[in-house]
Amino acid sequence: MSTIKTQNTSGLLWVTISRPEALNALNAEVLQTLREIIQEAYQNNAIKGIILTGEGDKAFVAGADIKELSSLNAEQAFALAQKGQLLFKQLEDSPKPIIAAINGFALGGGCELAMACHIRIATENAKFGQPEVNLGIIPGYGGTQRLTQLVGRGKALELMLTGDLISAQEAKAIGLVNHVVANREELMTLAQTIMSKILSKGPVAVAHVIKSVNAGFSFEQEGYQAEATSFAACATTEDFKEGTAAFLEKRKPTFSGK
Ligand code: CAA
Repeated sequence: MSTIKTQNTSGLLWVTISRPEALNALNAEVLQTLREIIQEAYQNNAIKGIILTGEGDKAFVAGADIKELSSLNAEQAFALAQKGQLLFKQLEDSPKPIIAAINGFALGGGCELAMACHIRIATENAKFGQPEVNLGIIPGYGGTQRLTQLVGRGKALELMLTGDLISAQEAKAIGLVNHVVANREELMTLAQTIMSKILSKGPVAVAHVIKSVNAGFSFEQEGYQAEATSFAACATTEDFKEGTAAFLEKRKPTFSGK
């Protein structure tokens, strides 16, 4: 069964990440399918905009797939971070608008995915965070850069250093999401309303707004390079082995600092 479901309704592409058994975590297959979808969206005139969500009421995306991460060496970790960063940059630079409809946990790579979209709206029960530090690793799909851009250095550092999760209302208060609604039904209605408004404008102007805003952050590449290098360095540590093993074995990690 496909891990991503798509449906095109009059030019609006609904994209649902669907691995509910793993809280829609981003494994290699999901990333590859997302890559194909976004490339298609760039080229296909029948796709005007995208609404991205997760299957079910519990999770948008609970992060990169920890099972896959747990066996990475430094070289693989660096390559994975760069691959993820490139994909999320393609989302961010997409000339077709992308709205993240966040229906539950948006953690780690899931929060990073939402941040790469142009607009974020969430349900009341959504939770946000960059909890990678609990696993002995750091955000690797652009989170150190985009979270800092969106909410400012102080709040971004607190979230990434503590691994704390915040509610949808807190995320709204710090500028991480634009709107919070009661439930999934309202989420989809609002996403569609906002998208319909955008799609009623000139598509060339819409694409240029996105391009111009992103141009203001074009100095960011060095930060992304540093993030991938650090992500790879973390992947060589005993703490990372311990952090991911503890998650998979459902116990608390004991970090040695090595
Ligand atoms: N990867 C793989 N599997 C995951 C997962 C993930 N990121 N998150 C949840 N799952 C799986 C769980 O292992 C569990 O599977 P089993 O039923 O087979 O045991 C299933 O999804 C349901 O999860 P829980 O039983 O843990 O559900 P819960 O309600 O008790 O907790 C949660 C929910 C707080 C979101 C918890 O699942 C959790 O902490 N998940 C991990 C979040 C995380 O650390 N994300 C960051 C990943 S690293 C990353 O993203 C790096 C990067 O930047 C590239």
